[in-house]
Amino acid sequence: MAGNLAKLAAVILLVAAVASSPAEGNGDSDALTEFRRGVVDPDGALASWDPNLVDPCTWFHLVCDEDKRVTELVIGGNNIDGSIPPEFGNLENLAGLDLYNNNISGPIPPSFGKLKSLVTLRLDHNRLTGPIPNELVGLSNLSLLGVSNNDLCGTIPSSGPFEHFPPSSFANNPRLRNPGMGVYNDDSGC
Ligand SMILES: *[C@@H]1O[C@H](CO)[C@@H](O)[C@H](O)[C@H]1NC(C)=O
Ligand SMILES: *[C@@H]1O[C@H](CO)[C@@H](O)[C@H](O)[C@H]1NC(C)=O
Repeated sequence: MAGNLAKLAAVILLVAAVASSPAEGNGDSDALTEFRRGVVDPDGALASWDPNLVDPCTWFHLVCDEDKRVTELVIGGNNIDGSIPPEFGNLENLAGLDLYNNNISGPIPPSFGKLKSLVTLRLDHNRLTGPIPNELVGLSNLSLLGVSNNDLCGTIPSSGPFEHFPPSSFANNPRLRNPGMGVYNDDSGC
């Protein structure tokens, strides 16, 4: 009798655990949920980002394609305070990423090199630090880059799409250097 009760209790606990765990999202919602968990969002810009939804396509500030993959993420001027998680590199259908004019710190993740569909990347007017990852030179469709007004450092990459970006893309990063500056072309300590 006691054994049966224990079994019943175990089954009830199991059912409760399954029912309360979040629905399994696609990789995009996982990456975005990771971002939301790590930031302070004083304006509630991300309040609609409900991790219990199977896909993130009803969330504000983003656009999906017909495969329910995120293609545009636009969060500008929302006082978001935090960093960009490496998991953003898994948003592989992303064509536009706009996070300008927030309070975002930390590095530009090298995993951005996986965002092969990226056309627009605007991260200007934040507090980003570290180098511009050389992985970005492989983003052959990237045609607009904005990283001005941050605290990036090191040497600006020079190949691939970087052959076409104007100096204004990089303005107001006192520790960022143009390629080919001879003896200063050394990113150690950056
Ligand atoms: C940005 O973050 C810094 C450090 O966390 C904080 O002192 C500052 O008040 C923030 N600025 C805004 C506009 O949220
Ligand atoms: C890059 O752009 C071309 C032309 O618009 C397009 O056909 C191609 O699919 C794009 N590549 C990626 C990886 O999105």
